[in-house]
Amino acid sequence: MYLTNAEEKALSGERGEAEQIAYRVLVATGKLGDAQKLIPIEWVHVSGVSFLTIGQYGLDFLEKISNSKGAKFKVFTTVNPCGMDIENWKALEIPTDYAEKQLQIIECYKKLGMANSFTCVPFETYKVPPAGTCVAWAESSAAVFGNSILGLRTNRESAISALACALTGKTVYSDLQIPLNRKPSKNIRVNLKKKMDFSGSLNFGVLGFFAGKEVPGVIGFQRVKQKLSLAEAKALSAAIGTLGSSGMFILDSKEKVETIDFTDREFEETMSDLSQSENGEAVVFGCPQMTLEELRDLSNAIQGKHFRKKCIVFCSSMMFERASHEGYVQSIESSGATFVRDACADFTPLISSLKVGSVVTDSVKGAHYMRKVHGVDISLKDTSTIIRENME
Ligand code: F3S
Repeated sequence: MYLTNAEEKALSGERGEAEQIAYRVLVATGKLGDAQKLIPIEWVHVSGVSFLTIGQYGLDFLEKISNSKGAKFKVFTTVNPCGMDIENWKALEIPTDYAEKQLQIIECYKKLGMANSFTCVPFETYKVPPAGTCVAWAESSAAVFGNSILGLRTNRESAISALACALTGKTVYSDLQIPLNRKPSKNIRVNLKKKMDFSGSLNFGVLGFFAGKEVPGVIGFQRVKQKLSLAEAKALSAAIGTLGSSGMFILDSKEKVETIDFTDREFEETMSDLSQSENGEAVVFGCPQMTLEELRDLSNAIQGKHFRKKCIVFCSSMMFERASHEGYVQSIESSGATFVRDACADFTPLISSLKVGSVVTDSVKGAHYMRKVHGVDISLKDTSTIIRENME
């Protein structure tokens, strides 16, 4: 891979240890992806923020980087949700030893110059640059959304490569950064008899989960509606990013490539893989974290009702403030739900500490990870069914 003089110098350690490590990561990533060069980026979104995902090894590494002389993020850098509500962790009974580690991680990112974001829907929180802009986003759901809906160019960065991008302001020119690669490698044709009106975030989540497993490259969809709601697009993107390596989809693909049918059988098999329980002992909303629009819809749908069981709603602090201003927070809280801010719905000790054997959620990605990480059974249902069955 070609490096400029300045990049060579940084790689040799002239600009400090953090940049040297970052360039080593980029060079290794570039070799894997057959990249010819590095390119500048305008926005990095870093994952690997919850202590539950990075552990002590990750924290030690972050401390080493953030304590290196001169180490700073070179471009606008947002970060994923962490593993707890930073303000309310004590009230939510997060173990102190976990909280201390989590706060140390946050301190490292602060030192490096992160935007105080803690969100997996950064495109909802900050102004999105024009289509065609090169960014480096690590959160898979955001990367798929960014490429497919917003027209941004990003590879599906890993936690470590995104950190390297933030420290250098560059990424490797490979994969989805190259316009020619942004075309379907396989098509998924929706061919359902039972669900003629295919809409809603749960249905698109199930489709995305199936497609993400089947297609490692860009996914071309056929016979799906062309205008997705924000909730549908977000659910589809998150589900695609859950398994496999696809970083982009295209609606209404005309590409003449192998085509896989998504029939009632594939829909039902995917649902039964994800959902093991008739109902859940607690309700979880917000994987990916809820947007303002979703909080508004939830607030409207639950007016005058009360949850019969524990209900947790995940969103970022910034979204919480906006929703609070609109009165959505107050109405959701008066239904008995608890807000958890800045945390990931799945990679938090909170789910285990609920001490329930099953959870009901409307999120396909949440279904997959809550089962995997916390061993709970999942009841996967759409939002209105959850409200109907679990509120009075
Ligand atoms: Fe967001 Fe965590 Fe789900 S980062 S997409 S809430 S797994």
